[in-house]
Amino acid sequence: MALPREITENVYWVGAIDWNSRLFDALIPLPNGTSYNSYLIKGSEKVALIDTVDPTMNDVLIKNIGELGIDRIDYVIANHAEQDHSGTLPRVLELFPDAKVLTNPKCKDLLINLLLIPDKKIEVVKDGEEVSLGDKTLRFIYAPWVHWPDTMFTYLIEDKILFTCDFLGSHLATSDLFVEDNDRIYEPAKRYYAEIMMPFRTPHVQKNLEKIRKIDVEMIAASHGPIYNDPSYILDLYEYWASDDVENEVIIPYISMHGSTETMVRYLTDCLINRGISVKVFNLNKTDIGDLAMAVVDAATIVVGAPMTLANPHPNAIGPVILLNALRPKTKFVSLIGSYGWGGRLVETVKGLLSNLNAEFIEPVVAKGYPKEEDFKELDRLADDILKRHKEMIKKH
Ligand code: FEO
Repeated sequence: MALPREITENVYWVGAIDWNSRLFDALIPLPNGTSYNSYLIKGSEKVALIDTVDPTMNDVLIKNIGELGIDRIDYVIANHAEQDHSGTLPRVLELFPDAKVLTNPKCKDLLINLLLIPDKKIEVVKDGEEVSLGDKTLRFIYAPWVHWPDTMFTYLIEDKILFTCDFLGSHLATSDLFVEDNDRIYEPAKRYYAEIMMPFRTPHVQKNLEKIRKIDVEMIAASHGPIYNDPSYILDLYEYWASDDVENEVIIPYISMHGSTETMVRYLTDCLINRGISVKVFNLNKTDIGDLAMAVVDAATIVVGAPMTLANPHPNAIGPVILLNALRPKTKFVSLIGSYGWGGRLVETVKGLLSNLNAEFIEPVVAKGYPKEEDFKELDRLADDILKRHKEMIKKH
């Protein structure tokens, strides 16, 4: 629950804070909850609502609009059709039957199919088109693929506020309307980038950042998390995350059944630390996958640790590997360590599952059973190979 909050004169946050949600899309952990931000703009002639809220919080949005004494909404701007922003749209249209939905053609199609909104309720706006509310003007900016094909920004020209929907957002339930502490927002923002935006890093995130840099923006109001009244903070972070630059760091997500792979992971970790390389190790049976996603945003190398089980890599390694492949981090190098009892296609399978990554596959180390002297030597060799590549990479930049 939350009350409406004034952002600037006649511009209000009317969304909902979701303190309790712990999973999004039945996949993404939300350790800090989230918010569904909806914004209401009272122009001298017309009233617009930008996005709605998750259907589980229908009543909060409707109550907030009521608190402002609003008896008419002329336009509902749909920046994106995913249900956490559009799910309350049918209820809003029921309560305000004269309201028109303004959106782009892709979003219109999705709203009709996902929410059964009648065609006649929706008006399509063009990229760059402006709509006057009297003393306030909205400009629509198509922003496809951050993170769906339908995504769009809305710019409130007079107040220099850019409503970016999911882009630049953060899953953080907070009573702060604005970002008050950059250190507090850093991790939720990075986690959000990793889980939602990273698959679209190039070219879509990069292109949309360029687009925003050309606009005179004083505030960035996304649809999740607090508002940035210092847009450069989040824009600079995104520019780095979306760039090709990586850190001298190795991420090791692993599974071990009887300790062989774990022993190899520990040995390799020590080898890498001794060579001056940062390491983050994730036991996949104990890891929040959001932490893993965040870790791979800017690391140079991923080494997967997995044993064979039932003629395949361990299933608890396969899921996260598929996810890493889908998230498409900018990782430059990938390798594999693990052990097997009697055979199987460990290397080929894991390598195949990481085919989306534009990364060099470094010769893996696979032990038969518990690692022996020659396997430890091979792990030293792998650490040397990684060091060599990281040094070359640093030299190039
Ligand atoms: Fe926050 Fe794509 O929905």
